[in-house]
Amino acid sequence: MTILVTGGAGYIGSHTCLALLEAGHDVIVADNLSNSNFNNLERVQQIAQKKIVFYKIDVTDELKLGSIFENHTIDGVIHFAGFKAVGESVEKPIAYYYNNLVSTLILAKICIEYNVEKFVFSSSATVYGENKSPFLEMMTLLPTTNPYGETKAMCERILMDIVKANPSLSVSILRYFNPVGAHESGLIGEVPNGIPNNLMPYITQVARGELSNLSVFGNDFPTFDGTGVRDYIHVCDLAEGHVAALDKLRTGVHTYNLGTGIGTSVIQLIEVFEKVTGEKIPYQIVSRRAGDIAECYADVKKAKEELRWTAKRSIADMCRDAWHFEKSRQDNYNY
Ligand code: NAD
Ligand code: UD1
Repeated sequence: MTILVTGGAGYIGSHTCLALLEAGHDVIVADNLSNSNFNNLERVQQIAQKKIVFYKIDVTDELKLGSIFENHTIDGVIHFAGFKAVGESVEKPIAYYYNNLVSTLILAKICIEYNVEKFVFSSSATVYGENKSPFLEMMTLLPTTNPYGETKAMCERILMDIVKANPSLSVSILRYFNPVGAHESGLIGEVPNGIPNNLMPYITQVARGELSNLSVFGNDFPTFDGTGVRDYIHVCDLAEGHVAALDKLRTGVHTYNLGTGIGTSVIQLIEVFEKVTGEKIPYQIVSRRAGDIAECYADVKKAKEELRWTAKRSIADMCRDAWHFEKSRQDNYNY
């Protein structure tokens, strides 16, 4: 198939483009590079030894997006393009609602105009809000604490309404848990903007000596060691989950958790990282971060049964590959 990947130059998008090329698909990327670099796609092409067609466009620009559909026969789309920083979304709600909602509306509108009926959407486990883990796809979604989370819940509802009105569409909504790690080559991975907010990139920068120590946000959660529990998933497993979702698309809207189903605490992640890399991660316990829940992990049965997909890589693999990428990018690449 020929797949249009919006936001394909970004962290999850670049790994998914690689997985798509390796599965034999042709890939077209539309990305405005607002949070990424074209080098990522050059490295994807280098690893796959295959070409990607690239358009530097804003997905909210209907004319430019339409011209891609005019010039290519597209079989399906994967929509990654969007803003994703939780804290920033609180500061800039208009930018977040505009970019995340309008890009989804325009992409869906053009897909319908050009009879492109396969649509995969990047959602997030954040839409479960304060439900109790393990999260099941059929749970009622609860309010999130920030505009970013709300954009994901709103896009899910928008897509459901669009499918009601256009029943020949096949939409897969993928709720990611905590994507971490990098491709084993060390050529592509996550490059955070400024000081990282998320745990794994913070740990790799402490290991590198760029940050002096890690603050662990709370050890008084009702979890087995008191620190927050999350379902970390290797980004390459996540990428393969998209290929599976695309292969198994069927009419209607179908929602899947993409996680491992295994909860790991902050302290456990630090311990595995130290063991796998031999690097020491000095840390201190500080108070909880506003909006953090105690536990967030997936029930993964639905993806296993319907997509025939499960995450294969371990926490040790995630730590090893995140660290390999962090060292490679600092030593060799200009980001
Ligand atoms: P990313 O920022 O690395 O990638 C997003 C890409 O979209 C970037 O390349 C950016 O330049 C591009 N982009 C943004 N707005 C655009 C627009 N209007 N037009 C064209 N391109 C645009 O983020 P990521 O981590 O790869 O996340 C991809 C998707 O997955 C996002 O929708 C994000 O909300 C979702 N998601 C991410 C996580 C995570 O932890 N990384 C978790 C859950 C869901
Ligand atoms: C965060 C976002 C979530 C988003 C996800 C994407 C918030 C409140 N939530 O989730 O909406 O979908 O990223 O990956 O920002 N931690 C520390 N010290 C740190 C950083 C994190 O102790 O310096 C802890 C957190 O309290 C949490 C765990 O590590 O228990 C994971 O944190 P993080 O990587 O930020 O992910 P989430 O909080 O799950």
